[in-house]
Amino acid sequence: MIRSAMPNRHLIANWKMNLPPEGVGPYMEAIHRAASARVSIAVAPPFPYLKETAGKGGDLIIAGQNCADHESGAFTGEVSPGMLRACGARAVIVGHSERRSLYGESDAVVARKLSAAVAAGLTPVLCIGEDLRTRDAGHVSRFLADQIKAAATSGLEAAKEIVLAYEPVWAIGTGRNASGAMLAETVGQIRESLERFWPVNHAKSTAILYGGSVTPENTADLVAHGAIDGFLVGGASLDSGKLLAILAAMGRD
Ligand code: PGA
Repeated sequence: MIRSAMPNRHLIANWKMNLPPEGVGPYMEAIHRAASARVSIAVAPPFPYLKETAGKGGDLIIAGQNCADHESGAFTGEVSPGMLRACGARAVIVGHSERRSLYGESDAVVARKLSAAVAAGLTPVLCIGEDLRTRDAGHVSRFLADQIKAAATSGLEAAKEIVLAYEPVWAIGTGRNASGAMLAETVGQIRESLERFWPVNHAKSTAILYGGSVTPENTADLVAHGAIDGFLVGGASLDSGKLLAILAAMGRD
């Protein structure tokens, strides 16, 4: 991500609203040298920890977990993409399913956030993913295509890089992960939709990550089909040892 003309795999630790302030230093100390030529590592901490993580991040990328859909103004409680950047962030997660379901973020809001992030020079990590009912009904491909189409706003082609995270809602924090075979099929469908709806410069080059109950134990199966370019990890990323074990299980090449 971002520095990433070289690394072609990504590992993102999404802390969500976790870790006490005194846990930040030891965590960063444990992982700050872990990024390699092949895997870029990003940490997405709560906003108040951004500067500290950026200061201790070494080769790591620091990411926001969310951003406003405007750059400034009367938006109490919001944080703009430019402010994230000023605090050391180089990427931002946009459209996480918890934002969509718990805070009512529609596809239109997510698209505006994506544009605002690109305009501020951040690499957006756009999350998409279906719920269980949609999967059981066999509508995954159409559902993801709609989310991808809705995110295809003007200005997207100006982004240096966009990362997409496929995070099926039924797999997030549930202990129930997708299988490698399922990912191979779904990622193929996502790639088709990107080619249909996104600017050519991103349709092929956008990295596609998987998120949803990733652990050191299931990483090998998830990468086995070669369909994905890395992971967005929530729960398991709170333990630096587990994050490093996932990194190791991603393999060296
Ligand atoms: P999880 O979360 O790894 O705890 O399932 C993933 C995410 O929400 O990004």
